[in-house]
Amino acid sequence: MEQNKKYKRFTVTSALPYANGPVHIGHLAGVYVPADIYVRYLRSKGEDVLFIGGSDEHGVPITIKAKQEGVTPQQIVDKYHGIIKQSFKEFGISFDIYSRTSNKIHHETAAEFFTTLYNKGEFIVKTTEQLYDEENKQFLADRYITGTCPFCNNEKAYGDQCEKCGTSLNATDLINPKSVLSGNVPVMKETKHWFLPLDKYEPWLKQWILEEHREWKTNVYGQCKSWLDQGLQPRAVTRDLDWGVKVPLEEAAGKVLYVWFDAPIGYISATKEWAEDKNKKSMVNSQMSIVNSQQSVGDSEPQSTNLVDWKTYWKDPETKLVHFIGKDNIVFHCIVFPAMLHAEGSYILPDNVPANEFLNLESDKISTSRNWAVWLHEYLLEFPNKQDVLRYVLCSNAPETKDNDFTWKDFQLKNNSELVAILGNFVNRVMVLTHKYFNGLVPEITTLNEQDKEVMKAISEFPKRISDSIELYRFREALAEMMNLARAGNKYLAESEPWKIFNTDPERVKTILNISLQICANLTIVMEPFLPFTATKLLGLLNMGALIWADAGKSDLLKPGTQLGTPEFLFTKIEDDVIAKQVQKLMDTKLANEEKELHVTPAKPDISYDDFTKMDIRTGIIMTAEKVAKTQKLLKLTIDTGIDKRTVVSGIAEFYDPEKIIGQKVAILVNLEPRTIKGIKSQGMILMAENPKGTLVFVMPSKDIEAGSLIK
Ligand code: MF3
Ligand code: ZN
Repeated sequence: MEQNKKYKRFTVTSALPYANGPVHIGHLAGVYVPADIYVRYLRSKGEDVLFIGGSDEHGVPITIKAKQEGVTPQQIVDKYHGIIKQSFKEFGISFDIYSRTSNKIHHETAAEFFTTLYNKGEFIVKTTEQLYDEENKQFLADRYITGTCPFCNNEKAYGDQCEKCGTSLNATDLINPKSVLSGNVPVMKETKHWFLPLDKYEPWLKQWILEEHREWKTNVYGQCKSWLDQGLQPRAVTRDLDWGVKVPLEEAAGKVLYVWFDAPIGYISATKEWAEDKNKKSMVNSQMSIVNSQQSVGDSEPQSTNLVDWKTYWKDPETKLVHFIGKDNIVFHCIVFPAMLHAEGSYILPDNVPANEFLNLESDKISTSRNWAVWLHEYLLEFPNKQDVLRYVLCSNAPETKDNDFTWKDFQLKNNSELVAILGNFVNRVMVLTHKYFNGLVPEITTLNEQDKEVMKAISEFPKRISDSIELYRFREALAEMMNLARAGNKYLAESEPWKIFNTDPERVKTILNISLQICANLTIVMEPFLPFTATKLLGLLNMGALIWADAGKSDLLKPGTQLGTPEFLFTKIEDDVIAKQVQKLMDTKLANEEKELHVTPAKPDISYDDFTKMDIRTGIIMTAEKVAKTQKLLKLTIDTGIDKRTVVSGIAEFYDPEKIIGQKVAILVNLEPRTIKGIKSQGMILMAENPKGTLVFVMPSKDIEAGSLIK
């Protein structure tokens, strides 16, 4: 609420990704890069900050994936937790802990949280009817039910959503619902669940968000407002499932906590785990330092053990809690989790929830199931040592206020014309010139002219602009300012032209290169949150130890006489063929997906023999054919059915020329009730074979047989 309140410490969380697949650029751009920038910046300022991450290892999709692959859910989450953790590490996402919700400490913490709310009488209990698979003796989560979407006829819609048309559904809306487990039609059965009465907290939430957090990002505030305006309903926090945190009540055997109840508590469990680990380590260290100090005859004080308490990171009002998430998580982090914390009563609430919108890939929604993504583990193989390039592109194009698009062309452009041409080029020119004129020794400032003073003033003004943007969670803006510092450096070099005056005025060149090198030193500080690998590399080139944010803005960071390292490029150009390969890879994925989608037309539900014999299908012959005026697809046909000669309207004009099908033998359903199409009464239907691409061909007898023969 209070923008300028001074906090003692920061708890920064990033959404726990589901451990049912690897992570991709959308994850990085939406959550982990911004969160990492924020915490690196805070650490550089010397703040006490705890950065929490971990895998979300519960939920129905994980159990379905396990079933499909014939392994246990634990095997699934073990596999992906490992892959995800490694990807984050390699991209320099600097978690203090990367935990997981299948840990014991998490199960205990989440169960305890439930018990506290239960004992306080915060839950309401309701018995409802849920779909149940009698063969497997199991209640069916929405994802375990498929059927036909009532809106678009997609036959593979899920009980919670149709992925084809995007409509969110109730399992009971589906036409022909089927259990994924047995294929049987589910039945309704009563079951008991515990609900968090969000309606009860609504007035409090309205006050807290709509009045006291008007400063939240407009996309976040807007979504909260629309939820709150619609009115909140009680939400079940338990599920009939055997994978997750067991509900700690005797009467709840076979039930677990709903994944969205336990997962955010994962932030708290991870903090506990971090504190335990850290305290263990510092106990060991302090014991070692006691031993050491005894050996060295007590001339050094034994180090005081700095024990940490997880509670200060969650319960002290002087802690600033910030959740980094994607937009699909807004309701859970702004409404449900705060309501849980509020109901519990002893926790602080988030100060901000800087959620991002979505990143698309080459204009299409990123999708794990359709393999439409740039996977981080694959990127690392294909672009070794280019983590910062992706961090840069994703931050400069982050979907902070609206959905954005990642394209490989743009990736190449940002690398070549920004990282290489501006940042890399500036540093390289300064390094090369210093080696050329002064053997790589940092020269001293001789005298300062107006131009120098101006650029020094500019240097001093950058840090505040960058930090202001970061503190408002405007990371694109902050990154652009960082690049502007490199631009200012290039401009200074271009205008002072040291290469032209070295022979006549070497003293002046000393000053120019000193100042240019101070810009480089400043860059190491302000780029570090965004490009940590490059910052380290540049520090190495400048032969400096790490600096802190308070140093930024100064023009005396590099001492004259310092020996610089050998010039090396910070970034290298990415060629067209490399980009073409990536684009091709995506095209291949698209083709493969199209083929997959085309192949399977699932079988329709069984019918009885009776149903079948109701249909009167016969051979017929086309007598006349003409296009129906003002339509693309329709032909008006006269068919000799053996019984009569009748008119049938058929949607085959795209595939057959009317002149060429006179005399064609066909199969016709003759007892279909007549329909009027474009004013023409159509009696019966010509049977056509249709392939997945929608091509239609006639079905005809394999030998000559008279018109009117029964097909049965
Ligand atoms: N696993 C969720 C997702 O990927 C995010 C969970 S965030 C947490 O959408 F707060 F619940 F942990
Ligand atoms: Zn649909």
